[in-house]
Amino acid sequence: MLGGVRVAAVVVAAGRGERFRQRLPKAFVSLAGRPLVLHAVEALSAVAAVSCVQPVVAREELSRFEALLAGAGELPKLAPAVAGGAERQDSVRAGLAVLPADCELVAVHDAARALVRPAAVARVIEVAKREGAAILAAPVQDTLKRVEKGRILETPDRASFWAAQTPQVFRVDCLREAHAKAVADGVRGTDDAALVERLGVEVHVVAGDADNFKLTHPQDLVLAEQILAQRSDRA
Ligand code: CTP
Ligand code: MG
Repeated sequence: MLGGVRVAAVVVAAGRGERFRQRLPKAFVSLAGRPLVLHAVEALSAVAAVSCVQPVVAREELSRFEALLAGAGELPKLAPAVAGGAERQDSVRAGLAVLPADCELVAVHDAARALVRPAAVARVIEVAKREGAAILAAPVQDTLKRVEKGRILETPDRASFWAAQTPQVFRVDCLREAHAKAVADGVRGTDDAALVERLGVEVHVVAGDADNFKLTHPQDLVLAEQILAQRSDRA
């Protein structure tokens, strides 16, 4: 693929954040003074290769999202938000449905991975331009056990295990086909790569930053605040 390929980003932010246990839906919870979804949208917008950022927000939060944009800086790449669905996969599909026709690649990103760095996004897009499909992932740190009924069955070689992150970048037609097949087969994947793998397409892995974690539990907010404070010290 050539350098002139147009890349859209879909930021899924339509979850409720039940495990996060905050007053607001997770995407709207403030981290260092800005809602998580804005951190994610800004990081993707900062990537030169990304030409358009499509947010997906819960239907009942669309007006809250519009209101928060009024207080944000200029985001010329940002498209109007669309309503998500009951599960993450439905929200991704809602975003895919409204992408500009001239975009050949799509980078799907979780708003909950608010600490993603533009440099890592640019790296995974570069690989996807060349290979067609690539995700950020980090090598697993813990020793893994395969367990059944409370007993260890085996200790697989940790070196071959990576924890998937986002963004995950695919050709738009490929990801649409993967989602259509998942719907047809009644499959629920925990990420987009799993759906693309089902097509028999090879997905490449690009090393992501350890701090590109998904804010899931309340204590993750404290950790994320600390990481951002350290980053601004260094800047
Ligand atoms: N997501 C979404 N639509 C859904 C469910 C999830 O867009 N129906 C998004 C979330 O907003 C989040 C990302 O998918 O950015 C990853 O999901 P997760 O971390 O599980 O967030 P929530 O589903 O909001 O949290 P929880 O599962 O604790 O309720
Ligand atoms: Mg969830």
